[in-house]
Amino acid sequence: MDRITIVGGQRLEGTIPISGAKNAALPLMIASLLTADRLTLKNVPNLADVNLLARILRNHGVDHSVDGKRAGSTQLLGETFHLTARDIVDTTAPYEMVSRMRASFWVLGPLVARMGRARVSMPGGCAIGTRPIDLHLAALKAMGATIDIDGGYVVAQASKGLTGGRVVFPKVSVGATHTAMMAASLAKGETVIENAAREPEIGDVADCLVRMGARIEGIGTSTLRIAGRDRLEGATHTVLPDRIETGTYAFAVAATGGDVLLKGARKQLLDTAFEALGQTGVTVSEGEEGVRVARNGAALEPISIETQPFPGFPTDLQAQLMALMTRARGTSVIRETIFENRFMHVQELARLGADIQLHGDTATIKGVKALRGAPVMATDLRASVSLVIAGLMAEGKTTINRVYHLDRGFEQLERKLGGCGAQIERVTTG
Ligand code: EPZ
Repeated sequence: MDRITIVGGQRLEGTIPISGAKNAALPLMIASLLTADRLTLKNVPNLADVNLLARILRNHGVDHSVDGKRAGSTQLLGETFHLTARDIVDTTAPYEMVSRMRASFWVLGPLVARMGRARVSMPGGCAIGTRPIDLHLAALKAMGATIDIDGGYVVAQASKGLTGGRVVFPKVSVGATHTAMMAASLAKGETVIENAAREPEIGDVADCLVRMGARIEGIGTSTLRIAGRDRLEGATHTVLPDRIETGTYAFAVAATGGDVLLKGARKQLLDTAFEALGQTGVTVSEGEEGVRVARNGAALEPISIETQPFPGFPTDLQAQLMALMTRARGTSVIRETIFENRFMHVQELARLGADIQLHGDTATIKGVKALRGAPVMATDLRASVSLVIAGLMAEGKTTINRVYHLDRGFEQLERKLGGCGAQIERVTTG
C-alpha cells in the first residue's frame, strides 16, 4: 500500500496545471450510454475513479479506447476517450462494481431511458454520510418508470420508454439532477426539472448533451426544460477544468505563503471560495493563462463559512479550508450543511496539533502557532488532501497512509506539488 511523505515548510512557487474535472468526466462518460454513436471526450483526467467507471461501462457493452501519446504530450495533459455504446448487452450494474464508486449508480437513468429497463445495485452509504437515492428514483418515477427494490438492486422499467414529466426536487442534488437530465433527453415529450443543481459540472454535461442533439433550455439555472428526442447522436466534448482541484491547490499555496499560477483554472467556477480566500488575506488574480494565487508574508485572517450548493462554498473544499484555518490568526467557524458526517479529517488534523472543536454540523477552529508532522490516515478523497495541505504547513515529516483515496481524484499530485518546491514523495511498499 502506498504512502505519501511530506516535509513541511517549503513555499510553493511556480505553475500547476489544472486537470479536467473528475465530477464532470464521470457523468460525461455515463452519457455515452444514451447513443449508439461515438462520444469523444477530451481532457479526461487519468484517475482511479475514471478508470473504474470505464471498466463498468465496458461491462454494459461500451467500446472504449484512449488516444495514444501525441507530439507535445506530457503526463500532465488530459487524455482523449472514445466511447461507443452501439449495443448495450447488459443492463445490470453489479454490486461489486457500484459499491466501489457511488457515481456509477448514475448509469440507471441512461440505461432505463434507452433500453426500457435497468438493474443497478444500490450504492449504500460511505465515509461522508448515508447518501440516499430517493431523489434519483422520484425523478425516474415522474417520467413514468416503475421502480422496485429487489435483493439490494434498484430495478427500473419503462417498457414503452420514458415520458416527459415534472420533476420538483425538494433538495438540491447533483447526482439526481444528472439522472433526471440524462433520462429526460431520451423521454417522449417535455420534462421540467425544478430546483435543479447548478454546479458547473451539470452545465458541462448539459452542453455535451446539446452537442449530442438534446434540446435543453435553462442551462446554468435551477429550472431545466428538456424536450426529449427519439435518439441522440455522437459528439466531441472537452471536459471543463476541475474547480475542486483548483481550490485545493489555491489553499495549498495560501497555506505555504507561496505564489503559483494555476494554469487553465477558471475563476468564475469558484467565485465563493476565492472570495473566502481573499478574506483570509490572500491575493487572487485571473489572467489569460489561469488564476494566480499569492500570499507573501501576511498572516492568515480567520473566517466563518457554511457549505452550500453552487454558487455557495463547496462541501468538496470544506476539509481543505479547515486545514488552512488551523494556522489562522484567530478563530474560524465552518458549518457543513450538505453531508452529515464529513468531518473525518478533524481527528487526523488534531494529530498534527490542530485545535478544532466539533458540535453537530459545526467546527470551531482556533488557529495555532505551528503544526507538527505526524503519521495520519486518509479517510475519503477530500479529507486526505486536507492532510496534504496540513503536512505542507507542518514542521517536520508527515506520513499519509491509505493514499488510494487521493488517487481517486487528484492526478499526479506529488508531481504537481513537487514541481513547485514541495518536499513530497510517494513510498510504495509490498
Ligand atoms: C456529488 O455527489 C459529487 N460527486 C460529490 O463529490 C459532492 O460532494 C456532492 O455532489 C455535493 O456537491 C460527483 O459529482 C461524482 P448530492 P452526489 O446528491 O451527487 C442528499 C467528491 O469528493 N441526497 O448533490 O452524490 C445527500 O445525502 C464527491 O468528489 C438525498 O437526500 O451528492 C446530500 O445531503 C464526494 N437523496 C445532498 O442531497 C438523494 O437521492 C447532496 O448530495 C440524493 C442526494
